[in-house]
Amino acid sequence: MKKLLILSIVLLLAAGTVFGQGQRAALDIGLAMPETHVERWQRDGADLLAFAEAKGYRAEVTYGDADQGVQNRQIQDFITKGAKLLIVGSINEGVVPVVSDAQDDGVIVIAYDRLITGSDAYDYYITFDNFKVGQFQGTAIEEALDLPNADSKKYITLFAGSPTDNNANFFFDGAMSVLRPYVESGVLEIVGPAPLVSSSPNFTRIATENWRADLAKTRMENLLNSDAQNVVLDAVLAPNDTLARAIIEALATDAKYDTVDKLPVVTGQDGELASIQFIRDGRQYMTVFKDTRSLAEAAIDLADALMKGEAPTISGARLDTETYDTGLKVIKSYLLEPVIVTRDNFQEVMIDSGYYSEADL
Ligand code: GAL
Repeated sequence: MKKLLILSIVLLLAAGTVFGQGQRAALDIGLAMPETHVERWQRDGADLLAFAEAKGYRAEVTYGDADQGVQNRQIQDFITKGAKLLIVGSINEGVVPVVSDAQDDGVIVIAYDRLITGSDAYDYYITFDNFKVGQFQGTAIEEALDLPNADSKKYITLFAGSPTDNNANFFFDGAMSVLRPYVESGVLEIVGPAPLVSSSPNFTRIATENWRADLAKTRMENLLNSDAQNVVLDAVLAPNDTLARAIIEALATDAKYDTVDKLPVVTGQDGELASIQFIRDGRQYMTVFKDTRSLAEAAIDLADALMKGEAPTISGARLDTETYDTGLKVIKSYLLEPVIVTRDNFQEVMIDSGYYSEADL
């Protein structure tokens, strides 16, 4: 029996060694997306896979179910399979240890759409200009309420994205860069928690864990029965489409907003199909289109250059080497241009571009 046990251990070790040395990488690029409950990530994953395979790479996409532990195991699996490069849309800073593991194994990591904060173990980030996304949201409210010429006080309540998502800070600060002067002059009154910058302690009171629609809906309902009970809201700063629609559904339960024309201005981003329908129907005021086809193609172009050891030349994106600081390192960042979408241009931007078809709507 003992001889059999020793023999089997020897065979296993031999197999492991052969497999280890002789292992042909089963994978070139690992694509780790955060989750699927926000529609855009399903598109990002599909587009990234298509562009990677079009360049002849063996790629695999996973979705982390908004759980960083799940995504970390998926990333470690990519490394085990021999991936040379990882494109990671992270969930929170819990991703940092596996980014370090990747660097230790000589695996390149590109932060995709969301900056990986708390790490210096990677070199590139690719996203849309997040501050500009927020500016579009703020400007939409400024114009819709005609704030420069307002002859009466206007009321707004604030929502932000996930406190674990560095983008949420940029979106909020971009919007408030437009709206803050009106708050300070008294034209615009904030109903409920009133941070004026994302570094404010009050920011967490308007932030929405993991971009969960159910949390935004509940908080809007609570506001309607408390701070917002005795005012008529003119606007709600909603950071993306998923939350915008949840907030609009909560508003519609209140007699003050129970018809489309009585709804406040509600912002968004991501150009989600349901929100394009809401914008067409006058329920949501605007979104920001961030064409995932463009972001995915640029990310794969960047990956291709890095794997070939070539200097990246990414068309349609500007290189920013100052703004995105992980806390340990300023990361070279490629920023693509977002596009504001309202009732006036959704047909041209979202349908004529082929992103959606008439039939989709
Ligand atoms: C952000 C992303 C946005 C938004 C959100 C929800 O990081 O930039 O597009 O949708 O995540 O996933």
